[in-house]
Amino acid sequence: MAVLPIRFIGDPVLRQTARQVSPEELASPEMQSFIDDLVETMRAAKGAGLAAPQVGNPVAIAAVCIEDNPRYPYKPNFPLTVFVNPVITVLSDETRSLYEGCLSVPDLRGRVERSMHIRVQAVNRHGEPIDFEVKGLTAGTFQHEFDHLIGMVFVDRVTDPSTFCNWANFDAFYRDDFVQEAEAIVAEFG
Ligand code: NI
Repeated sequence: MAVLPIRFIGDPVLRQTARQVSPEELASPEMQSFIDDLVETMRAAKGAGLAAPQVGNPVAIAAVCIEDNPRYPYKPNFPLTVFVNPVITVLSDETRSLYEGCLSVPDLRGRVERSMHIRVQAVNRHGEPIDFEVKGLTAGTFQHEFDHLIGMVFVDRVTDPSTFCNWANFDAFYRDDFVQEAEAIVAEFG
């Protein structure tokens, strides 16, 4: 296994629509080895998720793992899961705006509006179907990760550019309010 270099905003691979992965390709040793590397890279970077284009491979695969992440202590946990060819269906008009950041956009955060109730359908790394509903912050995480598979980065969804800030200013000026907002979302949506 290997930790792969993360691609940063401006790299054209982040702007491609990721291609679908066939069952045969998914089962291949090469793709399984790539998925191992994707997961190891996500862990090394302490990310809550990582999409294949972020390590330079424009295939429709993203990993998510939220396990007592020190970067996101307010986030409910979600076990390590690899999503292949994921599809999101929005199930409610309710949205909330929250600060997001991205491993491919170093030291920048900004407010993004996300749906608070979605359905996620995909297959896992073994080709087995995944189909569940998810709410709240975790729903936002999936929307962020799967945006990477359609060539979008969170900055595209920041409707108020005056909310952009670096980590130091986020900590200094916005973190306290943000944690309260995040906890309110957890209380409301789980
Ligand atoms: Ni990202």
